[in-house]
Amino acid sequence: MDVQPSHRVLEIGFGPGIAVREVARRVPRGEVVGIDRSAVMRAQAARRNAPAIRAGRVSLVVASVDDLPAFDRPFDKILAVNNMGMWPEPKRRLRELSGLLRPGGLIAIVSQPRTPGATAETTAAAARQIAGLLDAAGFGSIRTERLDLKPPVACVIGAAPGAPTRAPTGRERPVVADAQSGEGSR
Ligand SMILES: C[S@@+](CC[C@H](N)C(=O)[O-])C[C@H]1O[C@@H](n2cnc3c(N)ncnc32)[C@H](O)[C@@H]1O
Repeated sequence: MDVQPSHRVLEIGFGPGIAVREVARRVPRGEVVGIDRSAVMRAQAARRNAPAIRAGRVSLVVASVDDLPAFDRPFDKILAVNNMGMWPEPKRRLRELSGLLRPGGLIAIVSQPRTPGATAETTAAAARQIAGLLDAAGFGSIRTERLDLKPPVACVIGAAPGAPTRAPTGRERPVVADAQSGEGSR
């Protein structure tokens, strides 16, 4: 996602807060805001990110993606890992999220289908579905990265309309580095 040190990043459905912590390390002069509808997950994520919250670099809010709080400034990047499937009316939600990004800002929707018997094709189908929704919601420059876990993880990235953006190269380290360590509650 080409996260830069001064970027403002929003994560939807942060769960235990692993990606919040990873992204916060990459934005020492920026900010990470997270929303999750679960107060239990908020408490877990707040423990994991306590120093950054105290430093004012991370804010974690209990809210649902279909009832977003007001934000005073646009975000450079938006991330959602393994939760878009739980959103009501995802296309509408993606349109709303597009409006929270600066022109050309990037959204990354990550999915690792874990249904019994899920295969690489299950992940590929999920990626196609996400790409279609991003397209329908008005995002451009849509591309998919794959992380070869079992089953594989798809990360579908799209750019909000507006100013031209550098096409992501795919050489950046995965944001969710801990996905490989198996850390977390999934
Ligand atoms: C499978 S967990 C993934 C957590 C985290 N992103 C990760 O990968 O470890 C899904 C998370 O999405 C949150 N969630 C589900 N529906 C939501 C909604 N409508 N708005 C915000 N968060 C939601 C859940 O509370 C849960 O924390």
